[in-house]
Amino acid sequence: MIVSTDQLFKIAYGKYAVGAYNINNMEQTLGLFQGCIDSQAPFIIQLSKGARKYADKRMLEALIRTADTMYSEAVFAVHLDHGDEETCYDCIDSGFYSSVMIDASHASFDENIAITKRVVERAHAKGISVEAELGMLGGVEEDIHVDEGHACLTNPDEAKEFVVRTGCDSLACAIGTSHGAYKFKGQQSLHFDVLEKIEALLPGFPLVMHGSSSVPQDEVKRINAAGGKLDESARGVDENEYLPAAKLGVTKVNIDTDGRLIWTRVHREFFHDKPGEFDFRPPGKIFVEEYAKFIAHKNKMLGSAGQLPSVRKELGV
Ligand code: G3H
Ligand code: 13P
Ligand code: ZN
Repeated sequence: MIVSTDQLFKIAYGKYAVGAYNINNMEQTLGLFQGCIDSQAPFIIQLSKGARKYADKRMLEALIRTADTMYSEAVFAVHLDHGDEETCYDCIDSGFYSSVMIDASHASFDENIAITKRVVERAHAKGISVEAELGMLGGVEEDIHVDEGHACLTNPDEAKEFVVRTGCDSLACAIGTSHGAYKFKGQQSLHFDVLEKIEALLPGFPLVMHGSSSVPQDEVKRINAAGGKLDESARGVDENEYLPAAKLGVTKVNIDTDGRLIWTRVHREFFHDKPGEFDFRPPGKIFVEEYAKFIAHKNKMLGSAGQLPSVRKELGV
């Protein structure tokens, strides 16, 4: 059942984080629902601009509605990931989305506020909540590449002012992560000092952590052993840091890259081991199973696993 992002945040805040997973196709959709049911977790489905272009927004909506009937126990929100103003309005007007993200983090502070405020007004009029972003993550998003030198952590005082002036419902903060497979070199950790300051200034306000894939070394090694050429020094977020971050107000954790690595590993290994094969369904089925296992594991690390019965009870569904 599709529920409001706000409702999920109210229930989870300070206790655990809700996993926000991107989907682009049927296999990811099936694996995501299966993994969340297996682990009894509420979740957020994210659709990026790129995904809406790749699969067509109508196809994605149909996939989600169908999965919802197949997995009737599931409780989840539907969210636009990294939207621009125009895409936010399209999603708000569609009536399908629980929440949208307006990402104007590349604009100046005042311009970011002005854009976010416009989106908040349109969204709130329809009962939809808004995630905004302040600070700049490194890495690659569709159309935008931010090199590490230009990434900048969120300033806690600015975060407070931004939330007050925009009326946004959650805030994506830059606390040291970046998008994609190449986040860290060696052992680095989240900037808990920054997070603590933001939480102290915005108690009870849901924070969002982007770029939260953990880039498992084993996946990278297996991809390369089957013909890939990924940089093996790639590092992601330590999964053991999800829960401490959740206790400091991180209520939504965005994960996309790890799922892409699993897709790549499964397909590379399958066709590497069976060079004469050309039916895409056997590896597709393996991917769904592997992705479901991965999602269940992530939900455990986020603390959302096992929460589904109490979420259903609190929501009265
Ligand atoms: O933050 C970006 C997400 O991983 C979505 O990526 O824009 O390539 O769909 P995408
Ligand atoms: P990753 O690239 O770490 O999976 O981050 C995904 C994300 O932040 C989507 O908005
Ligand atoms: Zn992101």
